[in-house]
Amino acid sequence: MSHAETPAGLVGRPLPHESARLHVSGRASYIDDLPEPAGTLHAAPGLSGIARGRIRRLDLSAVRAHPGVRCVITAADIPGENNCGPILHDDPIIAGDEIQFHGQVIFAVAADTRDAARQAVRLAKVEYDVATPILDMDAAIAAESWVLPPFAMQRGEVDAAFAGAPHRLAGRAVLGGQEHFYLEGQISFAQPRDDDSLHLLCSTQHPTEMQQLVAHALGWRSHQVSVECRRMGGGFGGKESQSAQWACLAAILAVNTGKPVKMRLDRDDDMVATGKRHGFQYAWESAFDDRGRLLGLKLEMASNCGFSADLSGPVNDRTICHIDNAYYLDALALKSLRCKTNTVSNTAFRGFGGPQGMFVIENVLDDIARHLGCDPLAVRRANFYDVEPGARSTTPYGMVVTDNVAPALVAELAADCDYAARRAAIAEFNATSPVLKRGIALTPVKFGISFNATHYNQAGALVHVYTDGTVLVSHGGTEMGQGLYTKIRQIVADEFGLPFADVRLASTDTSRVANTSATAASSGTDLNGKAAQNACRNIKARLAAFIGELSTLTVDPEKVEFSGGQVRAGAFAMPFGELAMAAYRARIQLWDAGFYKTPKIHFDPVSKLGRPFFYFAYGAACCEVAIDTLTGESRVLRADLLHDAGRSINPALDIGQVEGGFIQGMGWLTSEELWWRPDGKLMSHAPSTYKIPTASDLPAIFNVRLYANANAEDSIHRSKAVGEPPFMLALAVFQALRDAVGAALPAGRPVRLDAPATPEAILRALNPGEAA
Ligand code: MTE
Ligand code: MOS
Repeated sequence: MSHAETPAGLVGRPLPHESARLHVSGRASYIDDLPEPAGTLHAAPGLSGIARGRIRRLDLSAVRAHPGVRCVITAADIPGENNCGPILHDDPIIAGDEIQFHGQVIFAVAADTRDAARQAVRLAKVEYDVATPILDMDAAIAAESWVLPPFAMQRGEVDAAFAGAPHRLAGRAVLGGQEHFYLEGQISFAQPRDDDSLHLLCSTQHPTEMQQLVAHALGWRSHQVSVECRRMGGGFGGKESQSAQWACLAAILAVNTGKPVKMRLDRDDDMVATGKRHGFQYAWESAFDDRGRLLGLKLEMASNCGFSADLSGPVNDRTICHIDNAYYLDALALKSLRCKTNTVSNTAFRGFGGPQGMFVIENVLDDIARHLGCDPLAVRRANFYDVEPGARSTTPYGMVVTDNVAPALVAELAADCDYAARRAAIAEFNATSPVLKRGIALTPVKFGISFNATHYNQAGALVHVYTDGTVLVSHGGTEMGQGLYTKIRQIVADEFGLPFADVRLASTDTSRVANTSATAASSGTDLNGKAAQNACRNIKARLAAFIGELSTLTVDPEKVEFSGGQVRAGAFAMPFGELAMAAYRARIQLWDAGFYKTPKIHFDPVSKLGRPFFYFAYGAACCEVAIDTLTGESRVLRADLLHDAGRSINPALDIGQVEGGFIQGMGWLTSEELWWRPDGKLMSHAPSTYKIPTASDLPAIFNVRLYANANAEDSIHRSKAVGEPPFMLALAVFQALRDAVGAALPAGRPVRLDAPATPEAILRALNPGEAA
């Protein structure tokens, strides 16, 4: 068999998303679109009206009496464990007496219709003993309120670096969280079966974890629960762990009533009751030389984890593993605080803490450049890791960077987008423009690929070849719009040399592939693609051996080729479908399972040392912005993105991920602001008050390109993971805004801009010291 690195087949082709036509014509079935079995009930959660305290009295009699209501449950009605936390067991499915945030589920209802269920939950009479909530990180730090203990580490000679440094600066920044705003909200549809089992349709990135948590909640065992997901209308990390609560509620209500139960959250409830990206705040001191090279960094960062741990441990670990971004840090003292507050429990979100690490180092370097009067890009370049592994190649977590393309990629983008000339033109513009100010920035991205938790880096697949030569593939990954199914189809069709149409994907189902990892950390294609390829190669090896038996010619099984719908070996050639039928009749196994585990990686979660990542994905963005110094409004005028997707399996999908990730990152850093009332109620709980970017916010000039660069590691077809890394290209927008603000301030004045850079935040930055 020949396993060329770049097959001439379907891999590498810019095919449209396998459901693109269905998406744009409204014919793609999401869970709520599927026909409902007779007797289906609809569920709604009852949410708490205070942020912290105890329930003194919960009177649900009016709820139960409401027409159409079939079942009402409280914490006491959970047959198994009252927990939907993915790691720690601190996440109640339904709060008992203790309320920990405004909007926490305190009971749930199943009724004949969704409207009846939603009307009924409003009829609850609840009396509370209200306690003073901890609502922000400062209050949590003062109270030493943590979901996980603080973590500190030191690398290199920090004190000596500071003592000997020619320059030092101190800085602070505040960074807001972010609502996922998946278009399809959280939904679970539980269908009890006749044999003490339950099938759950769930919009989730993590079917196996849903299976386990539902089983625990019911007091059942795993083989009684199967979880299926054909597609999500977006997940972005918000359906990694936090689909569980709704899955568990639907399952408990279904088992309680013996009826199918659908739990689809109302958008406002979804925004209030599900976790978001962690907001952060930072304080740092930097020590540096005359060129702006960092000699030492002291950094204290706090994250708002909300009321429970959820994924906050791994999220904050990824933050720690990304404060270096593409830069070598010789001496580092770091403290990471994981604040417990009386707000919703924050969770995974594209980048999984990485963006919050990279955000701070970009501010540190920008401050240094402004202080020295240097071009920020020159300071960034001076701090890059070595290209050839050398003295400046080891990350703070002990991994050696061996695949550093950041310097070359940044040089290519800077030349392509005319960075130097445009910076000069912007300075000229600003000199004569008193109200409007422009800014530009070019920032790199280096993002580690693999789950920090080593055991997650495994995947399985199941490939069926039918006797007519068509193929059905199942794997452990989930489709959320990113194009995983399309890429897997390409990989499998390519292995067998078949047309795209001859390969189909089955929905992801825990009863087809077991013990799956979350589709997260951007590793969906890396892991499941390799597992599917492995399954195909098992089948191909059997077919190749069979050809040896069939043919009178001597056939070298290593030389059998699958291409153009044919199987060839020397003078032998047969259509794939005919061969499949012949093999079946000869009793050759035509289906197989595949498995993959990422090699080379290891990570100690206690010391935070190891090689957590198989490789790094790189990218860079150059953004030009304008601000109105009177209103604080801003606009991105131009963005040039160059992104490393390795040897792309599908350049069309990868470009889509780069564009989408960048725009989502831009929203995070500019317009998307979460705002809580002083009593802890989230007020930005609908699109009317929470502003994600729209088509009109696209930069007028938007150039997006992939960087030609085969993965140095043996990833699937030498591609690179692309789901999350481009999100952080948007840091260039924020740095360009800092540049524009700097242009409006007296020369040499430090810039203090918080994120999101809303008009209010920009006005505060322009008028430091004034009350907002
Ligand atoms: N793209 C779309 N369209 N929708 C999504 O929900 N999620 C992102 C990214 N791209 C997402 C997306 C996140 S958070 C991750 S981790 C990856 O896709 C997951 O998919 P992958 O591992 O197959 O890249
Ligand atoms: Mo993505 S935050 O890893 O689901």
